[in-house]
Amino acid sequence: MKRKHAKPVAAVYDRRPKRGPKSSARTERRFNTLIAAAKAVQKNAHAPYSKFRVGAALLAKNGKVYTGVNVENASYGLTNCAERGALGKAVSDGQRKFAAIAVVAPSSTLSPCGACRQALAEFGDMVVVCADSRNLRKQRVYRVSELLPHAFKL
Ligand code: THU
Repeated sequence: MKRKHAKPVAAVYDRRPKRGPKSSARTERRFNTLIAAAKAVQKNAHAPYSKFRVGAALLAKNGKVYTGVNVENASYGLTNCAERGALGKAVSDGQRKFAAIAVVAPSSTLSPCGACRQALAEFGDMVVVCADSRNLRKQRVYRVSELLPHAFKL
């Protein structure tokens, strides 16, 4: 039987094959850099209704980082999430391949909403690192394929 989720997170994230403890330290440093970028942009969130500020940082496979914040609207349903904000910037810049996205918000249970999962899945699998902006050491690491199995595809 084909094992869909057999790849460890580090293998998705690192283009080079895993080589002992050094590579996981490198991965951790990269996650922390990405989380720091998400945290830095979080203050720009436009969240006057929910007061829930979200920051995201999306790492393209060529190393470029694109940030995004949630942009709320008085017509609530028009709200755009931080993840899709970052994705829009990156795709507009010509990017199509992504290694990881970091998302931060004042929550210990944060994970991307269903719409954002589908939007990220459009560009293949990537690592999703969620951190609590009140304590950035509280992190959870997923892959898009595990957050949204059986994503819609045409
Ligand atoms: N939000 C995001 O930006 N990303 C998520 O992953 C979850 C939710 C935003 C939407 C809205 O502005 C606020 O958080 C509360 O739902």
